[in-house]
Amino acid sequence: MELSDLKRVIQGIPKAELHLHIEGSFEPELMFEIANRNAIALEYDSVESLKKAYTFSNLQEFLDIYYLGAQVLIHERDFYDLTWAYLCKVHRQNVVHVEVFFDPQTHTDRGIGFDVVINGIYKALEKAKQEFNISYKLIMSYLRHLSEAAAFKTLESSLPFKHWIDGVGLDSSEMGNPPSKFVKVFEASANHGYKLVAHAGEEGPVDYIWEALDLLNVVRIDHGNRCLDDEALVQKLREHKIPLTLCPLSNVALKVIQNMEDHPVLKMLDKGILATIHSDDPAYFGGYMNENYYETAKALNLTKDQLMQLAMNAFEASWLSPEGKEKHILQVKKYFNTLNV
Ligand code: ADE
Ligand code: ZN
Repeated sequence: MELSDLKRVIQGIPKAELHLHIEGSFEPELMFEIANRNAIALEYDSVESLKKAYTFSNLQEFLDIYYLGAQVLIHERDFYDLTWAYLCKVHRQNVVHVEVFFDPQTHTDRGIGFDVVINGIYKALEKAKQEFNISYKLIMSYLRHLSEAAAFKTLESSLPFKHWIDGVGLDSSEMGNPPSKFVKVFEASANHGYKLVAHAGEEGPVDYIWEALDLLNVVRIDHGNRCLDDEALVQKLREHKIPLTLCPLSNVALKVIQNMEDHPVLKMLDKGILATIHSDDPAYFGGYMNENYYETAKALNLTKDQLMQLAMNAFEASWLSPEGKEKHILQVKKYFNTLNV
């Protein structure tokens, strides 16, 4: 496919985003606007100087700046504006279903109420459902650099809003914070009806993916890049159709891989793994859904069929109802059938 066709083709694909941290969609322009109205001084004096700081050697360097940016979010309106800006952006990219992570502890540890955070996010998601027909799920993530006791407190705070939250996740600094640290709180979360996912095998070893599956009982792995190191794991992922939500631009930005050409997604598809493509923290890593699809397709020479497979996989991996999945998958197939490239 010509590169000029590729952009147009990707734009038209109905897409599902399953791995997106709402705090990671905080564009510098909006960050400055909200910082100004909350009278908070950022460490950077302009959008340009902030953007210059967005070069990372590893996950931790990114997280340090990501948590700093989130500190300007104080009021419900701030969380609403953040979420609404993301939804407007992806609506223009023909994203029709989103499953959004938020990190309550990043805010509650600064004295912001759990209710303030979730009310803002929820209202924007509902508005996008009404105005854009975007369906959504909401996932509360525990910060793994904090204790399991702290995660339990977050679980407790979430319970009055349980009807708005579909699942829990595990994110932040992976190395040294294995899934096994959170066994009890994941079990308790499941008992409250939450679905379970966890970041694993992004920087961490393949053992962390096994732990997320065998000890936490997650239904999906976020990233999971390292799974190809272990043939038995590949077999398990394939047999149980356990999805991997991959984030190619994130992987390059955080040096999980050196070049996009090294991205494992194609090998995963070839092995029959339910691999999917998402944006992680698009404001920091240089692109939203379309850009992740485009850069991956360009670097790996993905065919039309492989692009279609990725798009269908995302709906299959989603938490939509069987009918909802079927409807979107049919639309993806129809779209590719009508293409003349
Ligand atoms: N929080 C936001 N983005 C993350 C990532 N890529 N890995 C772990 N935690 C995160
Ligand atoms: Zn992530």
